[in-house]
Amino acid sequence: MIHPATSHSVRQACQVLNDGGVVAIPTETVYGLACSIDRPEAIRRVFKLKRRPSDNPLIVHVHAVDQALELTASRDQNILRRLAEVFWPGPLTVVVSRSSKVSDLVSAGLDTVAIRMPAHPVALEILRGTQSPLAAPSANISGRPSPTRAQHVLDDFGDELMIIDGGACEHGLESTVVRVIGSECLILRQGALSADDLRHALPELFVRSANEADQRHRSPGTRYRHYAPKARVVICRSPEQVQDMLAENPAERAVVLTSAISVERNADLNARMVNAATLYDEFRRADALQVERIIVLCDDELSRNEALMNRLDKASESGGQSGDEAV
Ligand code: TXA
Ligand code: MG
Repeated sequence: MIHPATSHSVRQACQVLNDGGVVAIPTETVYGLACSIDRPEAIRRVFKLKRRPSDNPLIVHVHAVDQALELTASRDQNILRRLAEVFWPGPLTVVVSRSSKVSDLVSAGLDTVAIRMPAHPVALEILRGTQSPLAAPSANISGRPSPTRAQHVLDDFGDELMIIDGGACEHGLESTVVRVIGSECLILRQGALSADDLRHALPELFVRSANEADQRHRSPGTRYRHYAPKARVVICRSPEQVQDMLAENPAERAVVLTSAISVERNADLNARMVNAATLYDEFRRADALQVERIIVLCDDELSRNEALMNRLDKASESGGQSGDEAV
């Protein structure tokens, strides 16, 4: 059931979490399916509800740096402090060697743990009101786009789950996941915080995306099919290409998405406006309307956003096909 975020519903949510239950909570990136990291049965329920493979670890959410340090092995505490000082609260998830306070269930047996402090007042209030940090993967069923509104969570999990409604998520894309090794900052998953933001704030580190050779550090989640709506996603680079696509299959139900500027410039395309914050919402809307093809006109405006392009690329690789599950 959806509960508007009030001091009363937040207190109730904390109670449910402290009692070993599961609650969907808003964050500034996407909604999370939260449970206490100290409740094995709750963690198992999260994996089960999401139908998530058990070898894909969860992100742990904290409200204070000290709380994060307790979960971090001493050798990684300095780098955690450094990243937290610059980017927390915010959409950066830091992977560090884990302390004994993190269970195998949360970290899926890895010797590391992913931690972040969300920059959402409701998420922080809930974290302050619970006895332990909260593990929270995105609150979508595997195979569906991450939820950016309370309604999306309800659509995936139904009325039995307690959902705290904190409005539409500000970023609408997941956090950026990084791991620092020596003087390198590896981006394991692109996200709401850009590589350039990391570079500017961390001049002492060499920031780069993890590649095949970094396989052993990669986020397990990036192995799975991701962020795909049911419709096929096709990326076009010019309005003419979009027109050709539409002309090829006039009977097909299609929707065209592009930036606000291109929507105005190409009124004949009848396109809908999209940006990073609304991409998943548009994917879900297209699915609800049983659209067969989502044609995205990627102009300079959209192309500039690396994380948005990353999600579009992934969706276009796998959309409409079966395969590994998204997470
Ligand atoms: O914005 C977000 O990060 C949202 C909100 C709710 O915080 N959470 C989220 O969680 O997107 P999830 O579980 O959907 O994605 C977590 C990603 C996965 O790709 C997972 O493999 C990776 O983080 N991850 C988790 N623990 C890791 C670890 N120890 N090492 C490498 N990658 C890890
Ligand atoms: Mg996810």
